Amino acid sequence: MDRTFVAVKPDGVGRGLVGEVIGRLERKGLRLVGLKMMRVSEELAGRHYEAHREKPFFGGLVRFITSGPIVAMVWEGQDAVAIARTVMGATDPAKAAPGTLRGDFAMQIAANIVHGSDGPEAAEREIDLFFRPDELVGQPRPEEEWIYAGN
Ligand code: RTP
Ligand code: MG
Repeated sequence: MDRTFVAVKPDGVGRGLVGEVIGRLERKGLRLVGLKMMRVSEELAGRHYEAHREKPFFGGLVRFITSGPIVAMVWEGQDAVAIARTVMGATDPAKAAPGTLRGDFAMQIAANIVHGSDGPEAAEREIDLFFRPDELVGQPRPEEEWIYAGN
């Protein structure tokens, strides 16, 4: 099974969309294996967004992610990284399809309510940044017999 890191960003928490994000990922068929509400320090934000350090929006990104609590999560499932990103929709809410989280609930690229790892290596790195191994406690869902065709 693959794992991905997802976070409800401060705007998503502030707007009361935590349940919506969790509900959609859960209904899709992913398995929740880690969850915590927390504040992101500037140091953690810098490490999390390391790949964007040279981008013009880096300063604003760090300010935004540290501006209020986030809900950090680890989700597990076949192809979890891509599945979660499909549920989230395109980075820019103006381009995100209706039916996706960003397509349904966001207006601006800088306030797009959720984060999701962009590949398996990023997922591993981000899970490691936000969670200790003993904080991850998932177990198979009985209906996985139906979620997966068994091959
Ligand atoms: P995320 O990391 O948050 O899941 O989003 P993403 O992979 O779809 O997008 P990424 O390129 O990793 O960008 C990270 C976050 O930076 C903000 N951003 N602002 N002003 C801009 O042009 C710009 N570009 C990106 C977005 O909030 C994006 O989610
Ligand atoms: Mg990204």
